[in-house]
Amino acid sequence: MEPNVSKSPDRIASMFDAIAGRYDFLNHVLSAGIDRRWRRRAIQSLSLTGAERVLDLCTGTADLAIAARTARPAARRVIGVDFAAAMLGIGREKVRRRSFDGSIAFVRGDATRVPVLDGSVDAVTVAFGIRNVEHSQAACDEIYRVLARGGRLAILEFAVPTMPVVRPAYLWYFNHVLPRIGRALSRHQVAYDYLPASVGAFAAPGEFVTILRQSGFSDISAVPLTLGIVFLYTARRGSGG
Ligand SMILES: C[S@@+](CC[C@H](N)C(=O)[O-])C[C@H]1O[C@@H](n2cnc3c(N)ncnc32)[C@H](O)[C@@H]1O
Repeated sequence: MEPNVSKSPDRIASMFDAIAGRYDFLNHVLSAGIDRRWRRRAIQSLSLTGAERVLDLCTGTADLAIAARTARPAARRVIGVDFAAAMLGIGREKVRRRSFDGSIAFVRGDATRVPVLDGSVDAVTVAFGIRNVEHSQAACDEIYRVLARGGRLAILEFAVPTMPVVRPAYLWYFNHVLPRIGRALSRHQVAYDYLPASVGAFAAPGEFVTILRQSGFSDISAVPLTLGIVFLYTARRGSGG
């Protein structure tokens, strides 16, 4: 049976809620720990100075929000937005344990309707969330709206590598090995079938760059990480627009 790639908000939120308790562990196992390096790289691309207000969309269990606060220099404040309550609950607890609860706040909400004023944040980050958003163009338009002029964007997202040898090896791991490990460790029947299916169905890097351009962003770049299995997209809201 073909995996269901429907991205209805109810379906996506309940899927992440169901795996929330094992999400961090599975992330680190399935990526062999490289996910931490990808998040650090995304934060570095923002060139933080210590004064920034950062919005982390699809924040999940808050690893990227925490990375923005532990970077040197760090963001001054971070707001994490996600619609999955159980993912946010785990994020809140991690933030409290690290005593970042005065500088990282969470809001339950949808990435296409962020409860934040126009031009009110200096940077926006999204890690492994944008492909799950039902209307990614609407989310990019929303990110553009909330960013201050000159504000920066960093998005991490999986991609299907194009290099010979790497591509078939990756597809075998991603389509056959990863879902089995994910199913066994998460005890969720479909979440780790959805992961490779959603990556395959998401815009290719060139197409996603077009989406960012259509939202109005400038200085757009798409940098492949780890043989192209992940892309770091960076962009800026122009100072005039
Ligand atoms: C793969 S997790 C990524 C979490 C985190 N950013 C990380 O790096 O581990 C994707 C997250 O995006 C959230 N999400 C997906 N679509 C969303 C939307 N439209 N609005 C808000 N959150 C969304 C899910 O609830 C989930 O927590």
